Amino acid sequence: MSNFHRLLVALIWADCILLASSQKGSTFAGSTSTAVFPPPNATFTAADAFFPDGSIVGFPGPTATGDEAEAAATAPALAQVDSIFPLVRPDASNAKSQKFDVTQHWGSLTPFQSVESFGLPNTSPIIPNGCEIVQVHLLHRHGARYPTSDAVAPAFAATLHTAATGAGFTASGSLKFLNTWTFKLGAETLTPFGRSQMFNLGVGFRVRYGELLKRFQDLPVFRTTSEARMLDSALHFAAGFFGVQSYQQDYHQYIMIEQSGFNNTLAPYDQCANANNNVSAFGGIQGNKWAAIYLQPALKRLGPLLKGLELKVSDLIAMQQLCAYETVALGFSNFCGVFTEDEWKGFEYLVDLEFWYANGPGNPATSAQGIGYVQELVSRLTQTRITEFATTVNGTIVSSNVTFPLNQSIFVDVSHDTVMSTIYVAMNFTSMAANGPLPTDHIPKDQTYFVNQIAPFASNLVGQVLSCPASGKPTHIRWVLNDAVLPLTGIKGCKQNKDGLCELPTFIDAMKQRIQEVDFAFDCFGNYTVPVPDTIVDGQFPKNLRKRN
Ligand SMILES: *[C@@H]1O[C@H](CO)[C@@H](O)[C@H](O)[C@H]1NC(C)=O
Ligand SMILES: *[C@@H]1O[C@H](CO)[C@@H](O)[C@H](O)[C@H]1NC(C)=O
Ligand SMILES: *[C@@H]1O[C@H](CO)[C@@H](O)[C@H](O)[C@H]1NC(C)=O
Ligand SMILES: *[C@@H]1O[C@H](CO)[C@@H](O)[C@H](O)[C@H]1NC(C)=O
Ligand SMILES: *[C@@H]1O[C@H](CO)[C@@H](O)[C@H](O)[C@H]1NC(C)=O
Ligand SMILES: *[C@@H]1O[C@H](CO)[C@@H](O)[C@H](O)[C@H]1NC(C)=O
Ligand SMILES: *[C@@H]1O[C@H](CO)[C@@H](O)[C@H](O)[C@H]1NC(C)=O
Ligand SMILES: *[C@@H]1O[C@H](CO)[C@@H](O)[C@H](O)[C@H]1NC(C)=O
Repeated sequence: MSNFHRLLVALIWADCILLASSQKGSTFAGSTSTAVFPPPNATFTAADAFFPDGSIVGFPGPTATGDEAEAAATAPALAQVDSIFPLVRPDASNAKSQKFDVTQHWGSLTPFQSVESFGLPNTSPIIPNGCEIVQVHLLHRHGARYPTSDAVAPAFAATLHTAATGAGFTASGSLKFLNTWTFKLGAETLTPFGRSQMFNLGVGFRVRYGELLKRFQDLPVFRTTSEARMLDSALHFAAGFFGVQSYQQDYHQYIMIEQSGFNNTLAPYDQCANANNNVSAFGGIQGNKWAAIYLQPALKRLGPLLKGLELKVSDLIAMQQLCAYETVALGFSNFCGVFTEDEWKGFEYLVDLEFWYANGPGNPATSAQGIGYVQELVSRLTQTRITEFATTVNGTIVSSNVTFPLNQSIFVDVSHDTVMSTIYVAMNFTSMAANGPLPTDHIPKDQTYFVNQIAPFASNLVGQVLSCPASGKPTHIRWVLNDAVLPLTGIKGCKQNKDGLCELPTFIDAMKQRIQEVDFAFDCFGNYTVPVPDTIVDGQFPKNLRKRN
């Protein structure tokens, strides 16, 4: 046998093995399975003679509670959230150093970690010297979740499974794992890691601001929306904040209906037509321009590794998403190591583009969506009830001092990434938009808009209402986003301040002006298309192009 023939036989033989193993796997590759716990016929009885609860068993031992913590005022420095335990940190395919952390390049799918700075490097969430904290407003996102039902990740699994059950496909090299890969993710709900994020956020909030609980004369009312992951997030936050033994007795959870047709400031897209049509689809259009560029090398590299299935750019986006989703759900993902560091930077920027043009400064219906929360904020800060209802505020909810108390020292609202991003624009946090519209053909050097910093899983925005000098009377406010203080200099009247402080009356006046200048009816319901080129940076349809129909 000549060398050539030997090689040929070897190749054929190798191919046969590959084919055999892939055919074995090919019928189920990409298939979807569902969890079956708890066992369907196992029953749970609340009052169970075999398993009496703690109050019946007794003997709890000493139960003295300590005093409330207030680390935001008493600690010399605050702990940073820098762990994603118990998730395994994946490496990029060409990892050059430990420094490159793939998990921090997932945009809105990034697990929250403390942000170093938003441009005020010499301050921290610690209460500035001489000030006293009198109130906090927390707005946070839910924890890590499964893909939404419309995400491209489950669609990719379906494509793969169709190929597997049809003519079959063969994957090799870095994609070899696809031969036996199945889709193990659910949809929409929190993952176990997402639950721990919420619990930890609650614990952290108690340690930093627990002292404010002493000001309550009645039970706190916290709000969330009705979606499963939202309520689950709120409950896990409360469990961390109050403790699982008592949280159900320690506060009231108000659940606002999240559904088309219902006014809801924490889910405003349901009452804003232009958040559900081609105006919001513009984010995807802009993102796709960039995806077609940054994923070209991956398409050339990975395409030949898959026989029997032609990879498209959208499949690669799905695979990058699957890296994030599998990691936050299953602890590890084979998809992560398929892509290079540059491709991860490209993916991060893809999400930045989608948010900027769909839910951020560059979309004309953004401020309108965020303004309802701003109205509620002003209502709380001024202890004045809202009387005009022309946005997403639900008058039934906010007119009652039971469901919407105004005199709390701690406010907690749970919302979504795409809502928080509209609220930043409505509040005029212009430092995020400082360097203008994002280009779709390259990553700019001077970028100021990073979704992994402003809307990751468990993202949290804290408004600190302060008394400076300490007198009990509120005088100032500042905003801490994911542990870094935001500059407020874009807000009318707020002066340069190294700690990000703005005088409270000035801030309130500016918010009232925002409420006046946002044209909710037009921006949400006007029949317009996004102007091209889209140079919008304030989340509103340009006043000079406006014509009412
Ligand atoms: C649970 O129910 C299934 C059928 O519904 C039955 O086959 C099975 O034996 C039951 N298991 C137990 C432990 O009762
Ligand atoms: C708010 O004020 C009312 C009436 O003065 C009081 O009953 C309630 O306990 C107060 N709530 C808080 C959190 O201070
Ligand atoms: C306002 O909220 C209440 C309470 O959830 C609900 O019954 C009502 O339908 C809501 N109204 C609108 C217009 O959303
Ligand atoms: C949305 O845009 C697509 C293509 O860009 C177009 O085919 C469709 O008619 C548009 N829909 C509306 C409601 O404008
Ligand atoms: C819901 O919002 C609309 C404006 O978008 C308003 O006309 C209506 O009164 C609101 N309903 C309630 C119950 O607040
Ligand atoms: C709520 O408002 C009613 C009047 O609308 C008032 O009588 C009552 O004292 C208020 N309760 C609280 C807790 O503020
Ligand atoms: C909003 O931001 C823009 C740009 O910084 C500024 O010109 C405007 O005065 C601000 N408006 C308010 C009410 O803060
Ligand atoms: C929007 O305007 C276009 C033309 O400007 C028109 O063809 C279309 O019917 C309008 N759509 C609605 C819902 O009014």
